Amino acid sequence: MSSTRYPVIEAVRKQANLSAEQYEAMYQQSINDPDVFWAEIAKRIEWNHFPTKIKNTNFDKDNLDIRWFEDGQLNASHNCLDRHIAKHGDKTALVWEADSETEASRKYSYQQLLDEVCKLANGLKSMGITRGDIVTLYMPMVPEATIAMLACARIGAVHSVVFGGFSPEALAGRISDGKSKLVITADAGRRGGKSVPLKHNVDDALALCKADYVQSVLVLRHTNDEVNWYPKRDVEYHTLVDGQSTACVAENMNAEDPLFVLYTSGSTGQPKGVVHTTGGYLVYTSLSHHYIFDHKADDTYWCMADIGWITGHSYAVYGPLSNGASCVMYEGVPNYPDAGRLGRIIDKHQVNVLYTAPTVIRALMATADEALASNHRNSLRLLGTAGEPINPESWIWFFEKFGNGRCPIMDTWWQTETGGVMLTPLPGVTELKPGSATKPFFGIQPALLDNEGKVLTGATNGNLVICDSWPGQMRSILGDHQRFADTYFSSFAGNYFSSDGARRDEDGDYWITGRVDDVLNVSGHRMGTAELESALAGHPAVAEAAVVGFPHNIKGEGIYIYVTLVEGQHASAELLTELRQTLRTEIGPIASPDVIQWADDLPKTRSGKIMRRILRKIAADDYDSLGDISTLADPSVVARLIDERRAIL
Ligand code: WT7
Repeated sequence: MSSTRYPVIEAVRKQANLSAEQYEAMYQQSINDPDVFWAEIAKRIEWNHFPTKIKNTNFDKDNLDIRWFEDGQLNASHNCLDRHIAKHGDKTALVWEADSETEASRKYSYQQLLDEVCKLANGLKSMGITRGDIVTLYMPMVPEATIAMLACARIGAVHSVVFGGFSPEALAGRISDGKSKLVITADAGRRGGKSVPLKHNVDDALALCKADYVQSVLVLRHTNDEVNWYPKRDVEYHTLVDGQSTACVAENMNAEDPLFVLYTSGSTGQPKGVVHTTGGYLVYTSLSHHYIFDHKADDTYWCMADIGWITGHSYAVYGPLSNGASCVMYEGVPNYPDAGRLGRIIDKHQVNVLYTAPTVIRALMATADEALASNHRNSLRLLGTAGEPINPESWIWFFEKFGNGRCPIMDTWWQTETGGVMLTPLPGVTELKPGSATKPFFGIQPALLDNEGKVLTGATNGNLVICDSWPGQMRSILGDHQRFADTYFSSFAGNYFSSDGARRDEDGDYWITGRVDDVLNVSGHRMGTAELESALAGHPAVAEAAVVGFPHNIKGEGIYIYVTLVEGQHASAELLTELRQTLRTEIGPIASPDVIQWADDLPKTRSGKIMRRILRKIAADDYDSLGDISTLADPSVVARLIDERRAIL
């Protein structure tokens, strides 16, 4: 824990959307009188029918039921577009920056974005997509990705965005789970000068899907890379959209109708389809975007997250657009063609607010001179990070150097499941501590529990739970409500369990210590060790594989794999390549291992359970506190693993 303190910056405080007193008063009301608080907050979005019932939630795992604004009616796309048109139709909604620095940017005003959304929405209708259908999006970071999300929302279809870094196998699993009728993709995406073969991957994924739910694939010509074409199934985006009417009445949705599904990894089983609904999600993302990023009408705001992740959904699309913000969208990687690119984009578009991830900061810091040389970043007023713990050195560099010492950093803790930010400082309100997500946002009641579920008070470490519902939280797992209850509400009765550990300091500030389950966070990408292990176990040479995380300078956490081969198989460079390829095929390039260690045996208890705690220690090159190994079936395994570990470094 860093002891450095960064007091509130006076210039930020003076113009902040919230004072310390207001935060206190509003927070208290949000906890003590949620019905009154959220009824008032709900007014910040437009409803066709304003809700009369506000909170109706039950965290008891046997009667789990979460409803917010349940008799309210609205449309998310209407709130992100139509609502701003009368006064701000010409305002920039989106400015897109290509991967290549020499390619021209593209701008969409709110009016233009609305027109494009309506045209696609009408196109989708003409293809037979209706309310409640699940549409899979597998898109590069281009305006059409946002347009497709909002077009789905407009007609009441449920989007399921799959990150472009997932493999055809992973995509196939998600398409099948949602029984999608339609996939929207592009010929390819561009990242760091390289093509990402999206259409090709969709073709492969659909060949893998057992049932053919998918009737059509809508393909945007973006890079003009050559693709295979299946005329009965594939439809060219502009063939569908051009000539459609720019008028499309937004479907009147119930507050608790699903808005989207987004898959995320847990400690067991296949990725879960996290279901978010319309009213609560929109109110929560709109409110949190407004206060956490201190949104001003003439801001240029840039959330760097890919729309394939929850951060992209909540803070690159729904939160900012519902608030009428002008957003930057960038297709490429932050250090292409060189580390100065990120700063040059900030200067070019005069970005005021930047929301990024610790892994990006660490990568820039590693080439700091280059990152800072070609740009000055004077337009910046506020910085944000999300997705993983930020180490104090990176925080301080980001603050002092990147932000020129003027911009407070909002270290926001949250999850795919929470829909929006849960713990965060607020601009002009909170004293900052590098590495701490500080305090709860409105409506959030965090607590730390010991392993037996006892509430811990004062300065302490514990399991981070949330004691009561908030509007942005997930409502279910697609097709498996029981799994929803079991996963999040059974560890600590009556509480939502985050699976994160945290420390609370003397000031009541929270410091996330990381996952306490078997979930890895690699460059902010969440991965279940069980998923990786089951992929590896599918390889004929593998008898058993155990995957753990270990500290990594840039990625935060790296992937460390112990592999035991079946008898008669021998470790070789070829096999190593094959195992890497297996992970790439089953999950995608984001699951690229950092270390593979051959192990003739793994440390197991007498009942056969792998002791991951010991494997994590060995991977971290930390042998001092291995703990009690006498309960192992064969304690000598440990010494052998340590010797082998030392030999490969
Ligand atoms: C996991 C959730 C932030 C939303 C995007 C990621 C870790 C997230 C922080 C933070 C420390 C963080 C947690 C959490 N995490 N934000 N500010 N400090 N850790 O959502 O993919 O669902 O991952 O990311 O471990 O459980 P996600």
